[in-house]
Amino acid sequence: MPFYITTPIYYVSDVPHIGHAYTTIVCDTLARYHRLRGQSVRFLTGTDEHGQKIARMAEAAKVTPRQYADKFADAYRATWKALEISNDDFIRTTDPDHEATVQEMWRAMEKNGTIYEGEYEGWYCVPCERFYTEKELLQPGNLCPDHKRPVELVKEKSFYFRLSQYTQPLLELYEKHPEFVQPANRRNEVVAFVREGLRDMSISRTTFAWGVPVPGHPKHVIYVWLDALCNYYSATRRSDEAKPFWDDPSSQIVHMVGKDIIRFHAVFWPAFLMAAGWPLPSTIFAHGWWTIDGEKMSKTLGNVVDPLKLASDVGVDAFRYHVLREIPLGPDGDFNHEAFIGRYNAELANDLGNLVNRTLGMVHKYGIVPASSATDPFGVADAMSDYARALDEFQPSKALEAVWELVRGANTYIDQKAPWKPESPRAEILGNVLELCRVLSHLLEPFMPERSLAMRAQLGLGDEKTAWPAWQARSFSPTPATPLFPRIDDDRKKELLERWRPKRVAAEAAESQADDGRISVDEFGKVDLRVAKIVSAEPVPKAKKLLKLVVDLGEERRQVVAGIAEAYAPETLVGKKVIFVANLKPATIRGVESQGMILAAGGADILGLSAIDQDVPPGTKVR
Ligand code: MSP
Repeated sequence: MPFYITTPIYYVSDVPHIGHAYTTIVCDTLARYHRLRGQSVRFLTGTDEHGQKIARMAEAAKVTPRQYADKFADAYRATWKALEISNDDFIRTTDPDHEATVQEMWRAMEKNGTIYEGEYEGWYCVPCERFYTEKELLQPGNLCPDHKRPVELVKEKSFYFRLSQYTQPLLELYEKHPEFVQPANRRNEVVAFVREGLRDMSISRTTFAWGVPVPGHPKHVIYVWLDALCNYYSATRRSDEAKPFWDDPSSQIVHMVGKDIIRFHAVFWPAFLMAAGWPLPSTIFAHGWWTIDGEKMSKTLGNVVDPLKLASDVGVDAFRYHVLREIPLGPDGDFNHEAFIGRYNAELANDLGNLVNRTLGMVHKYGIVPASSATDPFGVADAMSDYARALDEFQPSKALEAVWELVRGANTYIDQKAPWKPESPRAEILGNVLELCRVLSHLLEPFMPERSLAMRAQLGLGDEKTAWPAWQARSFSPTPATPLFPRIDDDRKKELLERWRPKRVAAEAAESQADDGRISVDEFGKVDLRVAKIVSAEPVPKAKKLLKLVVDLGEERRQVVAGIAEAYAPETLVGKKVIFVANLKPATIRGVESQGMILAAGGADILGLSAIDQDVPPGTKVR
């Protein structure tokens, strides 16, 4: 049975962090597991490059959107290589063959009468790249429920998709195929949403050009999510080898996504496919989100986890192991740096590393040729079926539990059989442990590809490849052992935790020491100052000193209330660049939310605005 697994395609607006790495590592592990089972496997990842968000960011950086996208696409490729990701293809939505397939999908939907022309008027959140109904927004201030930033009012000609026709077919799909949306709590959410009835949706935009043109209507670009979702299909069109992964009815097609984008994948995507008359995927699996040391991950907090940093400090496989073992796939979880080191020492250095190391140590010390017996004393076959069931059910953490039962069992076996006693059958005891280690090296390969190979090399097996391993009676000629996972001692642990500590926390510690009224550079660094361009200004009703401004920060827009109405007429402000405090907690002033502060001279009466004397792009940091 062919197995096709995909990650979401990542926006080229951000460098890869632990959230992106997690989805990709999970997919990699599942892809490698299915290869181990001897299946034909295709694993796809890539980047999502069109849309208003990227167009604006490129404009602010004064480069073309394509140049902007290139930089991030390269960063993703390099990160996946460093994290041992075994993707078979990397798709970019700016690839011409993808763009052609998106247009083909549009034509198929159009031919089936599911698209009509109209005019859209409503709210749009650029960071989400989605429309919101008034009811969904947070008040006051018309804020996006996800980004807590003001959405924009959009009024433009648009094509619509008859999503409303798919309420019933989708409910039937979820009913007939409970495995379509997983885990069950996400399925319930999706079913409840669809049961409320679906409304037709806008699927083209006319106010910017960075996207795939609507066939026959070059002023329209196709809605970025329709374009992006289509990648899973279009990547299977570009080689004969890839086609069966979508076309063969026995193929299992799995889209792994974060919980925030489940609706796009479990509602819109199957509806688009039904409208085009194309086959559906088998499963949309939504995983949870990581917090970091108990806090939401955010650039402002300075706690964004760079997977490459952890991987270079402790090892790629140790990082992969931790995120796969720490939480079940589905619920949210917390990445705690101290727990990362604790688990590394207990499970990798101690349980597994030491098992291999002590066994090889004894083989060399006693100068014997270890040979395993015909029957396995550890219950490998049962553990392997638990392992397989767990991975078939998308539960890598459970599969690792099954492996660790074997690892711990083998350590107990050595303690009980005491091969150091001269009268013990040493060659057989140690041979059995080494044969178990051989099987383990294969079972662990999907999780820790590099260390598994190192383990096989130490067992004297070179890069032995096998499909699903099985216990064998055999002899070994291992090489001298070096620890697979060197222990992290207390000094090194202190050093690592210090290095990984978010900058914000370091600044707080400095603050508690300062007592003469002066502040340290770190403390000053806590203030996130940015260049902001004023895009609109209007009076706040019944407040003669206040203006409500919307400012452009490059990546996003913010609404801010400023006490400058007596010094500036609103229309004179548009286009001005000012210095902006970007990490101020939001405050509500006269019923209007203010999400930051612009710097100005003066006290109660403002005398002048801060300014930047060169043409610097919005969003640039000020120090
Ligand atoms: N471009 C869209 C996906 C289009 S797929 C047709 C997108 N990109 S993204 O780069 O913003 O996010 C990609 C994935 O990263 C999402 O699945 C999201 O859930 C995941 N994560 C982002 N932050 C995360 C955490 N803190 N924790 C876990 N995953 C998180 O959405």
